[in-house]
Amino acid sequence: MIWKTIASWYRAHGRDLPWRRTDDPYRIAVSEFMLQQTQVDRVVPLYRAFLKKFPSWRALAGASQSDVVRAWKGLGYNMRAVRLKRLAEGVVRDSGGKLPSDEAALLALHGIGPYTARALRVFAFRKKALAPDTNLRRVLTRVFKGPKADPKAFDARAWSRWEATLPEALSYEVNQGLMDLGARVCKAGRPRCEDCPINRLCASYPRILSMRRLPRQKAARKERVDAHGVPNRIYRGRVIEALRKGPATDAALSAYAHVLPSLEKDGLIRKRRGRWVLA
Ligand code: ADE
Repeated sequence: MIWKTIASWYRAHGRDLPWRRTDDPYRIAVSEFMLQQTQVDRVVPLYRAFLKKFPSWRALAGASQSDVVRAWKGLGYNMRAVRLKRLAEGVVRDSGGKLPSDEAALLALHGIGPYTARALRVFAFRKKALAPDTNLRRVLTRVFKGPKADPKAFDARAWSRWEATLPEALSYEVNQGLMDLGARVCKAGRPRCEDCPINRLCASYPRILSMRRLPRQKAARKERVDAHGVPNRIYRGRVIEALRKGPATDAALSAYAHVLPSLEKDGLIRKRRGRWVLA
């Protein structure tokens, strides 16, 4: 049975990661926000430091947004810090300080989309679901659909069918295991099928090993870039980095003038007495 095999593989070979040693939904939510766009190795130390500063929903909800953005240093994509902070405010204000486990209630909270709702249901509440992150999509597409299927096209119907066969008691381990299989074995560029516990159950094995070109894992994300091809994300990060140290004038930020309006609109920065500060 495929799910059982993945769960046993996870018990024997899964990575020991700090958010796997807790059942506190707050800590698990923090990890999910951080892991959305940042690699595991980079997240681990920053996750620990962040939780020391903000150990609970209430601590995070009560902090100032600028302190939260300062503590996000090193993770990038600072909007996630704003969303997480707003989520904490929602949990404290509308949910009695507890994250709900119900899917509709999770989706109604600020900052939680369909991926995060599923991930939280699995990791924080051990419910039956498959969290459609990039790794899981690739692994399950290969396993169930074969080597030529496009892992970036999310097939919601197939996904629900696969989910329906997953025993709830194995849900947590299967999802964690699939994340690890995707990161270490069933890699995008060169899968290491010889080390895979489910190779004999896989619709892509062994054909995938002799394919010269694998379907592209992810459409290149269309980023806004300047005349030199530098993405706005980089400039946005530099502005936040500068303002973490203190206020700055328009003149000091003139190299980044083109991203200031969007940062302001996103609620990350504002003007105070003629100078830019973290909002
Ligand atoms: N990415 C998202 N959630 C994760 C988890 N629980 N473990 C490893 N990588 C992840």
